[in-house]
Amino acid sequence: MKRSTRQILAATNNTDKLREIRQILNGSDWEVVSLNDFPPYPEPPENAETLVENALEKAREGYQHTGIITLADDSGLEVDYLNGRPGVHSARYAGENASYDDNVDLLLREIDGAQENERTARFRCVMALVGAGIEQWWEGVSEGIIIETRKGSSGFGYDPVFWSHELGKTFAEASSEDKNRVSHRGQALIGLSNVLNELT
Ligand code: IMP
Repeated sequence: MKRSTRQILAATNNTDKLREIRQILNGSDWEVVSLNDFPPYPEPPENAETLVENALEKAREGYQHTGIITLADDSGLEVDYLNGRPGVHSARYAGENASYDDNVDLLLREIDGAQENERTARFRCVMALVGAGIEQWWEGVSEGIIIETRKGSSGFGYDPVFWSHELGKTFAEASSEDKNRVSHRGQALIGLSNVLNELT
Protein backbone atom coordinates (compact mmCIF):
# COMPACT_ATOMS: atom_id res chain seq x y z
CA MET A 1 0.00 0.00 0.00
CA LYS A 2 1.42 3.41 -0.96
CA ARG A 3 1.81 5.68 2.01
CA SER A 4 1.13 9.40 1.68
CA THR A 5 3.95 11.94 1.73
CA ARG A 6 3.98 14.97 3.95
CA GLN A 7 6.19 18.01 3.66
CA ILE A 8 8.82 19.22 6.06
CA LEU A 9 10.79 22.43 5.55
CA ALA A 10 14.56 22.34 6.00
CA ALA A 11 15.29 25.95 7.00
CA THR A 12 18.78 26.26 5.60
CA ASN A 13 20.42 28.10 2.72
CA ASN A 14 23.37 25.73 2.82
CA THR A 15 22.89 23.41 -0.16
CA ASP A 16 25.42 20.91 1.21
CA LYS A 17 23.52 20.49 4.46
CA LEU A 18 20.26 20.28 2.51
CA ARG A 19 21.65 17.51 0.30
CA GLU A 20 22.71 15.46 3.32
CA ILE A 21 19.41 16.03 5.16
CA ARG A 22 17.53 14.86 2.04
CA GLN A 23 19.77 11.78 1.71
CA ILE A 24 19.29 10.86 5.37
CA LEU A 25 15.50 11.31 5.34
CA ASN A 26 15.15 9.63 1.95
CA GLY A 27 12.81 6.65 2.24
CA SER A 28 10.76 8.24 5.02
CA ASP A 29 7.22 9.44 4.43
CA TRP A 30 8.42 13.03 4.39
CA GLU A 31 9.33 15.21 1.43
CA VAL A 32 11.99 17.74 2.37
CA VAL A 33 11.21 21.15 0.88
CA SER A 34 13.64 24.04 1.08
CA LEU A 35 13.62 27.80 1.58
CA ASN A 36 13.74 28.14 -2.23
CA ASP A 37 10.16 26.84 -2.34
CA PHE A 38 8.86 29.86 -0.42
CA PRO A 39 8.95 33.62 -0.78
CA PRO A 40 12.07 34.89 0.96
CA TYR A 41 11.80 36.04 4.58
CA PRO A 42 14.44 37.69 6.74
CA GLU A 43 16.61 34.97 8.22
CA PRO A 44 17.45 35.07 11.92
CA PRO A 45 20.93 36.58 12.43
CA GLU A 46 22.51 33.42 13.98
CA ASN A 47 24.24 35.50 16.63
CA ALA A 48 23.44 33.31 19.63
CA GLU A 49 26.39 31.70 21.36
CA THR A 50 24.99 28.15 21.28
CA LEU A 51 24.07 25.74 18.50
CA VAL A 52 20.78 24.99 20.30
CA GLU A 53 19.61 28.60 20.35
CA ASN A 54 20.58 29.15 16.71
CA ALA A 55 18.91 25.96 15.50
CA LEU A 56 15.71 26.63 17.46
CA GLU A 57 15.55 30.22 16.23
CA LYS A 58 15.96 29.14 12.58
CA ALA A 59 13.29 26.44 12.95
CA ARG A 60 10.84 28.81 14.70
CA GLU A 61 11.25 31.42 11.95
CA GLY A 62 10.69 28.83 9.25
CA TYR A 63 7.53 27.50 10.86
CA GLN A 64 6.20 30.98 11.57
CA HIS A 65 6.65 32.10 7.94
CA THR A 66 5.47 28.96 6.16
CA GLY A 67 3.14 27.10 8.54
CA ILE A 68 4.99 23.90 7.58
CA ILE A 69 6.70 21.76 10.20
CA THR A 70 10.32 22.90 10.07
CA LEU A 71 13.73 21.47 10.90
CA ALA A 72 16.90 23.52 11.21
CA ASP A 73 20.53 22.47 11.58
CA ASP A 74 23.20 24.41 13.39
CA SER A 75 26.57 22.73 13.41
CA GLY A 76 30.25 23.30 13.87
CA LEU A 77 33.71 21.88 14.41
CA GLU A 78 35.30 21.94 17.88
CA VAL A 79 39.09 21.61 17.92
CA ASP A 80 40.61 20.86 21.34
CA TYR A 81 43.99 22.50 20.54
CA LEU A 82 42.03 25.71 19.82
CA ASN A 83 39.96 25.44 23.02
CA GLY A 84 36.86 24.42 21.09
CA ARG A 85 37.13 26.94 18.26
CA PRO A 86 35.79 27.51 15.63
CA GLY A 87 32.68 25.89 17.22
CA VAL A 88 29.50 27.87 16.75
CA HIS A 89 31.46 30.27 14.48
CA SER A 90 32.61 27.56 12.04
CA ALA A 91 30.87 29.01 8.98
CA ARG A 92 32.47 32.45 9.43
CA TYR A 93 35.74 31.38 11.03
CA ALA A 94 37.96 33.23 8.52
CA GLY A 95 35.58 36.18 8.11
CA GLU A 96 32.03 37.15 7.19
CA ASN A 97 32.19 35.94 3.56
CA ALA A 98 34.79 33.22 4.07
CA SER A 99 34.73 30.24 1.69
CA TYR A 100 35.14 26.65 2.87
CA ASP A 101 38.75 26.83 1.60
CA ASP A 102 39.47 30.05 3.53
CA ASN A 103 38.19 28.41 6.73
CA VAL A 104 40.23 25.24 6.22
CA ASP A 105 43.37 27.27 5.41
CA LEU A 106 42.99 29.26 8.62
CA LEU A 107 42.38 26.10 10.65
CA LEU A 108 45.51 24.45 9.24
CA ARG A 109 47.58 27.56 10.03
CA GLU A 110 46.25 27.77 13.58
CA ILE A 111 46.88 24.11 14.33
CA ASP A 112 50.26 24.03 12.61
CA GLY A 113 52.87 22.43 14.87
CA ALA A 114 50.37 20.54 17.06
CA GLN A 115 51.26 16.89 17.72
CA GLU A 116 48.87 14.15 16.55
CA ASN A 117 47.50 13.60 20.08
CA GLU A 118 46.73 17.32 20.32
CA ARG A 119 44.69 17.35 17.12
CA THR A 120 41.50 15.83 18.52
CA ALA A 121 38.27 17.41 17.29
CA ARG A 122 34.58 16.77 16.90
CA PHE A 123 31.76 17.85 14.68
CA ARG A 124 28.64 18.74 16.60
CA CYS A 125 25.18 19.21 15.08
CA VAL A 126 21.97 20.36 16.71
CA MET A 127 18.83 19.62 14.75
CA ALA A 128 15.71 21.48 15.90
CA LEU A 129 12.13 20.63 14.99
CA VAL A 130 9.30 23.14 15.34
CA GLY A 131 5.66 22.62 14.38
CA ALA A 132 2.16 22.69 15.87
CA GLY A 133 2.71 21.86 19.55
CA ILE A 134 6.26 20.65 18.82
CA GLU A 135 9.51 22.26 19.84
CA GLN A 136 12.35 19.76 20.24
CA TRP A 137 16.02 19.38 19.43
CA TRP A 138 18.61 16.61 19.19
CA GLU A 139 22.39 16.67 19.20
CA GLY A 140 24.79 14.49 17.24
CA VAL A 141 28.56 14.31 17.73
CA SER A 142 31.25 12.71 15.59
CA GLU A 143 34.85 12.39 16.85
CA GLY A 144 38.09 12.59 14.88
CA ILE A 145 41.37 14.40 14.42
CA ILE A 146 42.47 17.29 12.20
CA ILE A 147 45.08 16.09 9.73
CA GLU A 148 47.87 18.25 8.30
CA THR A 149 46.77 18.42 4.67
CA ARG A 150 43.49 17.93 2.82
CA LYS A 151 42.51 14.39 1.75
CA GLY A 152 39.54 13.51 -0.45
CA SER A 153 37.12 15.51 -2.55
CA SER A 154 33.62 14.55 -1.36
CA GLY A 155 31.54 16.32 1.24
CA PHE A 156 31.98 19.97 2.11
CA GLY A 157 33.40 22.43 4.62
CA TYR A 158 36.04 20.94 6.90
CA ASP A 159 35.50 17.36 5.60
CA PRO A 160 38.90 17.10 3.80
CA VAL A 161 40.84 17.67 7.05
CA PHE A 162 38.55 15.78 9.46
CA TRP A 163 39.79 12.20 9.86
CA SER A 164 36.94 10.20 11.38
CA HIS A 165 37.79 7.63 14.08
CA GLU A 166 34.77 5.56 13.09
CA LEU A 167 35.54 5.47 9.36
CA GLY A 168 39.36 5.42 9.46
CA LYS A 169 39.46 8.07 6.71
CA THR A 170 38.48 11.68 6.22
CA PHE A 171 34.83 12.54 5.69
CA ALA A 172 35.89 13.81 2.24
CA GLU A 173 37.27 10.33 1.37
CA ALA A 174 34.08 8.58 2.51
CA SER A 175 30.99 7.81 0.46
CA SER A 176 27.98 9.92 1.38
CA GLU A 177 26.30 6.77 2.79
CA ASP A 178 29.23 6.13 5.13
CA LYS A 179 29.54 9.76 6.20
CA ASN A 180 25.79 10.04 6.88
CA ARG A 181 25.85 6.81 8.91
CA VAL A 182 28.40 8.11 11.43
CA SER A 183 28.17 11.88 11.08
CA HIS A 184 26.96 14.42 13.62
CA ARG A 185 24.12 15.28 11.21
CA GLY A 186 23.14 11.64 10.75
CA GLN A 187 23.13 11.08 14.52
CA ALA A 188 21.07 14.19 15.22
CA LEU A 189 18.52 13.16 12.59
CA ILE A 190 17.87 9.77 14.22
CA GLY A 191 15.84 11.29 17.08
CA LEU A 192 14.08 13.70 14.75
CA SER A 193 13.14 10.87 12.34
CA ASN A 194 11.60 8.90 15.20
CA VAL A 195 9.32 11.82 16.04
CA LEU A 196 8.44 12.33 12.36
CA ASN A 197 7.54 8.64 12.03
CA GLU A 198 5.11 8.99 14.91
CA LEU A 199 3.46 11.94 13.18
CA THR A 200 2.74 10.11 9.92
P1 IMP B 1 26.10 26.90 10.37
O1 IMP B 1 25.48 25.70 11.02
O2 IMP B 1 25.31 27.42 9.23
O3 IMP B 1 26.47 27.97 11.36
O4 IMP B 1 27.47 26.45 9.67
C1 IMP B 1 28.16 25.33 10.08
C2 IMP B 1 29.54 25.29 9.43
O5 IMP B 1 30.23 24.19 10.04
C3 IMP B 1 29.50 24.98 7.93
O6 IMP B 1 29.52 26.13 7.15
C4 IMP B 1 30.78 24.16 7.76
O7 IMP B 1 31.88 25.03 7.63
C5 IMP B 1 30.89 23.44 9.09
N1 IMP B 1 30.25 22.11 9.00
C6 IMP B 1 29.05 21.74 9.52
N2 IMP B 1 28.78 20.45 9.22
C7 IMP B 1 29.82 20.03 8.47
C8 IMP B 1 30.10 18.79 7.85
O8 IMP B 1 29.33 17.83 7.87
N3 IMP B 1 31.27 18.74 7.18
C9 IMP B 1 32.15 19.78 7.11
N4 IMP B 1 31.92 20.96 7.65
C10 IMP B 1 30.76 21.09 8.34
